[in-house]
Amino acid sequence: MSRKFKTSIGGLLIVVLVLAAAHPHAETIEDKAAVCGSCHGDDGIPPDKTLPVIWGQHQGYLYLQLRDFKRGTRKSDAMAPFVEQMEREDMMALAEYFSKKPWPDLRQPPAPASVVTQAQRANTSVGCTGCHQAQYQGEGTQPRLAGQFKEYLIKSMMDFRAQERGNNPGMSDLMLATTPGDLAAMADYLAGLQLN
Ligand code: HEC
Ligand code: HEC
Repeated sequence: MSRKFKTSIGGLLIVVLVLAAAHPHAETIEDKAAVCGSCHGDDGIPPDKTLPVIWGQHQGYLYLQLRDFKRGTRKSDAMAPFVEQMEREDMMALAEYFSKKPWPDLRQPPAPASVVTQAQRANTSVGCTGCHQAQYQGEGTQPRLAGQFKEYLIKSMMDFRAQERGNNPGMSDLMLATTPGDLAAMADYLAGLQLN
């Protein structure tokens, strides 16, 4: 290959790279994720306590939720417009992106001793930690619950219980087998858990 030819290929490559960077449709993952911040928090802390923290949540779980919002098995008027046009690769990329962010400290106080006792008793009968892991840190497709907003936790459990959230019938059965009082104690307890 002549030197002149190589130089022109090198020049072309630079032009292509510059064009790609300037091209408005060459969206980076940061661009795609920016829109999520208005509800899920630009710093990972949602401005509304009934909205879930997604920073530091597990990739497998985040991906499944995006997929289920698109399928409609999990219904949310707020989420629907964002997943409508999303392809599997976008969902995987967003799930990976948010899973790598640090879980934010929401500064929720530890639950009082009587609530802790009630929550631990509920766990003994239902076995939440069998799936959500010993410190409720979750893993894979099992969500982390420790340090999530209390208001969101109670909402999500009651949505499973009322079968309004239909994307995991097993969780609905478990929530139906637990009293609302015990679920309220669980939410209070889980919100106040700090992971090291
Ligand atoms: C207009 C507000 C809004 C925007 C913008 C938004 N979300 Fe959401 N998101 C919500 C609400 C509300 C819920 C909770 C729905 C429910 O209660 O079931 C939610 C739930 C989720 C969940 C489920 C989390 C869990 O713990 O179950 C994921 C994952 C998620 N959103 C990802 C995203 C991503 C990624 C984006 C950006 C592409 C985004 N959201 C943009 C409002 C929003
Ligand atoms: C058999 C396994 C299993 C058991 C036992 C279990 N869970 Fe779950 N839980 C799951 C899975 C899997 C999901 C995610 C479902 C989905 O994909 O939407 C979930 C979701 C949740 C969510 C929603 C989290 C979010 O971010 O939206 C809460 C809250 C929750 N579980 C609380 C509990 C509590 C409290 C108990 C015990 C009383 C419990 N779970 C027992 C498997 C389990």
